[in-house]
Amino acid sequence: MRIAVIGSGYVGLVSGACLADFGHEVTCVDSDDAKIAALKRGSIPIYEPGLDQLVAKNAAAGRLLFTNGLDAAVSSAEAVFIAVGTPSRRGDGHADLSYVYAVARDIAPSIRRFTVVITKSTVPVGTGDEVERIIREANPDADVAVVSNPEFLREGAAIEDFKRPDRIVIGIEDERARAVMTEVYRPLYLNKAPLIFTARRTSELIKYAANAFLAMKITFINEIADLCEAVGSNVQDVAHGIGLDKRIGGKFLHAGPGYGGSCFPKDTLALVKTAQDYGSPLRLIETTVAINDQRKRAMARKVSRAIGADIRGKTVALLGLTFKPNTDDMRDSPAISIVQGLQDGGALVTAFDPEGMEAAKACLSDVIYAPDPYTAAEGADALVLVTEWDAFRALDFPRLKSLMGNPLFVDLRNVYRRDLIARHGFRYVSIGRPTEDIAVALSSAAE
Ligand code: UGA
Repeated sequence: MRIAVIGSGYVGLVSGACLADFGHEVTCVDSDDAKIAALKRGSIPIYEPGLDQLVAKNAAAGRLLFTNGLDAAVSSAEAVFIAVGTPSRRGDGHADLSYVYAVARDIAPSIRRFTVVITKSTVPVGTGDEVERIIREANPDADVAVVSNPEFLREGAAIEDFKRPDRIVIGIEDERARAVMTEVYRPLYLNKAPLIFTARRTSELIKYAANAFLAMKITFINEIADLCEAVGSNVQDVAHGIGLDKRIGGKFLHAGPGYGGSCFPKDTLALVKTAQDYGSPLRLIETTVAINDQRKRAMARKVSRAIGADIRGKTVALLGLTFKPNTDDMRDSPAISIVQGLQDGGALVTAFDPEGMEAAKACLSDVIYAPDPYTAAEGADALVLVTEWDAFRALDFPRLKSLMGNPLFVDLRNVYRRDLIARHGFRYVSIGRPTEDIAVALSSAAE
């Protein structure tokens, strides 16, 4: 099948490469000439494990093309995916749909036979209706079916998520689109990936409801972690204990510094706005957003408390800056609030991240970047693990101790265990697990 993907950003590129790998003939379109030229040379503008090989393989096989020529790509395609960004609109948190609507206007004149136009970008309920209206207004003769097909890709695991999805959600209003979409995803259908057909507005809401639920689940366990610290319980055991209940499930129950990234913060906010606009507020999600924002700021205070009352003039070394491992994405990363909070308190911040330092430079100032964890830790009064990259899972603690001014390790991802770290002469502070003080206080209270 001939497919055009409009927008060669994260979602467009991953979707285009995976669809080509299924055997479809895919043309990825972008208006950014420099990006298209780079992609033609085989240079991938984002860091996503496995994507460069997948693009190279399918480009070499002639199934994956890159172009800025919208008309040729759209007019020859049976399915056209819209995969442009929907950032938060400045000021009000609504999703900014101007790029999606611009694509709808731009592709309309090129629709010359029955074409299925699929919105892959994360868009609020009702966007499909508007995309269809725009296309029909711009080209009254267009024989078009507009479909919603949200993506559920995680950065860092996007190819796996595309090829082995839990489900594929497809929202249609025109029955003719069913056969086309079944053909697009036929290779996955054969793998028994459930294809869920529903109404377009329902499909649009499924995407937001899924992300909001996951954000809420993380926020729930983060609050339980705070309670664990207060009462001397262990949040990892609580998560395990509740997660084995199949109705709850063990995934997305890792307590940490708060969720970040390009999706959860933006999508929860957009859903809250939509719900308010329709007079049906989602108070659970409103609270989730507020708690998560406060939590990211509270992490700097947690580090400060661990160091002592005054952090003025102290050096804090951060390991990991991106919002999660295996990405170079800094968007809404907890590290941003942590760095700012520490700097506001007068601390000097050094940092190392395996992939995110270039992106970090654009959103953080006055940070000293180090080429590895050990250089970052030199002379530091605290070492803080912010993002759980594999590179930080087997640190050389005797070496770190010899380098640091003060052996304090703050583990915001619970990668380590206190007894292992304490053995090397470190003080250890983590998330939702008993600290030394609490352990002593509780045992003396019990005596
Ligand atoms: C998320 C969803 O997981 C995808 O299904 C969805 O397609 C995507 O958003 C999207 O809407 O495009 P992503 O933002 O790439 O994917 O990353 P996640 O792995 O979901 O992590 C998001 C944040 O939650 C990270 O900051 C991560 O550290 C945090 N998190 C995640 C936790 O703090 N605890 C957990 O147990 C899980």
